[in-house]
Amino acid sequence: MRVTVIGTGYVGTVTGACLAYCGHRVTCVDTDARKIEKLRRGEMPIYEPWLEELLQLAAARGGIDFTTGLEAPAAESDVIFIAVGTPPLETGEANLCYLEAAARSSGAAMDDSRFRVVVNKSTVPVGSGNLVDTLVREGIGEAHPGQLKRIHFGVASNPEFLREGNAIADSLYPDRIVLGAEEERTLQVLRELYGPLIAQSFEAPAFLPRPAALAQVPVVTTTLTSAEMIKYAANAFLAVKIGFANEVANICERVGAEAPEVMTGIGLDARIGARFLNPGLGWGGSCFGKDIQSLLHTAREYGYRSRLLEAALEVNLAQRQLAIQKLQEKLFILKGRTIALLGLAFKPETDDLRDAPSLQIAERLLQMGARVKAYDPIAMEACRESYPALRIQYCGSAEDAAQDADALVLVTEWKQFASLDLRGLAKRMARAILVDGRNLFDPETARQAGFDYCGIGRPQRAARTNGAAAPTMT
Ligand SMILES: NC(=O)c1ccc[n+]([C@@H]2O[C@H](COP(=O)([O-])OP(=O)(O)OC[C@H]3O[C@@H](n4cnc5c(N)ncnc54)[C@H](O)[C@@H]3O)[C@@H](O)[C@H]2O)c1
Repeated sequence: MRVTVIGTGYVGTVTGACLAYCGHRVTCVDTDARKIEKLRRGEMPIYEPWLEELLQLAAARGGIDFTTGLEAPAAESDVIFIAVGTPPLETGEANLCYLEAAARSSGAAMDDSRFRVVVNKSTVPVGSGNLVDTLVREGIGEAHPGQLKRIHFGVASNPEFLREGNAIADSLYPDRIVLGAEEERTLQVLRELYGPLIAQSFEAPAFLPRPAALAQVPVVTTTLTSAEMIKYAANAFLAVKIGFANEVANICERVGAEAPEVMTGIGLDARIGARFLNPGLGWGGSCFGKDIQSLLHTAREYGYRSRLLEAALEVNLAQRQLAIQKLQEKLFILKGRTIALLGLAFKPETDDLRDAPSLQIAERLLQMGARVKAYDPIAMEACRESYPALRIQYCGSAEDAAQDADALVLVTEWKQFASLDLRGLAKRMARAILVDGRNLFDPETARQAGFDYCGIGRPQRAARTNGAAAPTMT
């Protein structure tokens, strides 16, 4: 099929690459000419593992190109995806100006040569499907006065669930595909488009083998409104789940229980599940905070106050402050101290810094008069560029960051940090204090390496005084 994807961010580029890899002819469109130029040169405007490799394969399969001009590709496409940003406004509402422009321009590009489906992949407030329909109509009306009845299109909501850092695998091997539309004809187009993914009939790329158990991807077909709600409900649930783990961890710390052990114990309950139960310095990223704010805003518009979701935001903010509290417990005064942050990205395997806990932690430390050094394997350039006012001293390695620092705070659990030479790091520091904000390290190993260690939900002194081994599962 012929496909246009509007927006070449994390979602749009990955969607375009996967669909072209599955054999569709794709054009990706963005108003940001710099991004388009980069993509044309084969350079990635974002860091996402395997994206470059997949784009190369995609070009040789269905074919994929990049442009700033929407009109020509949209005119010849069967499916037009909208994957533009929907960042939060000060009020918590989603800013729909990019979506509005994309929908209106899509309408303007249409003629009566074919039936087209406009698919909204951006996360938008419940009810935005109707808005897209209205805007496409307006676009058609403005560009082709009097021809609205002859130009046929459908609108669908197809929320995106990819995780940055794992986006290609999540898109090629999704847990489910949600398709929301009001007309069977529209759904039929999308079932055909996603046919290779639903049936898993495409040849898996060598670098990302298909999970052994995956034979068929479940498709959830819903109304437009339900599809929009599914996206918000999924993100809200995950944020609440992490918030719950953090709350329990904070209690663990006070009563002398080991939070990671507790999480193992509850996560094995099939009703609970082990994932998203890692206590830490709170979640971040472009989605959770923005989407919960937006859902709260929608609920308020309908006269409903969601106390649980409000609490999820509050708990998360407090969790980020734990890094500062723990540093104060160890160092008392932070003014004039040098604090080294390991990790800046909001999570490993991405360069995305949107709503990253590291930013708030760095900002607070700087306000308190501390010096902040940082090392991140990927996100330092993005941080320097996007947050020039943040007076962070960027370092070339974890060792450089640790050199002469008064404390080390592990903020992002990049895999490579797990194999750092802790003894070597401790020796370089003015004071060997380690705040392990993601419970990446084994406390005993860190202590033996010379660190004054504290994790999240881990009592200061080992709870096990009888020499018993870590909990085992039999
Ligand atoms: N990033 C994620 O992990 C993720 C996951 C699921 C859903 N989402 C949702 O998907 C949407 C996109 O997210 P993202 O992270 O890819 O955003 P992004 O900010 O990385 O990319 C959006 C792109 O859209 C472009 N754009 C804006 N207006 C345009 C227009 N009129 N025409 C063409 N291009 C335009 C921007 O220049 C930008 O490159 C958001 O609604 C987000 O909530 C994101």
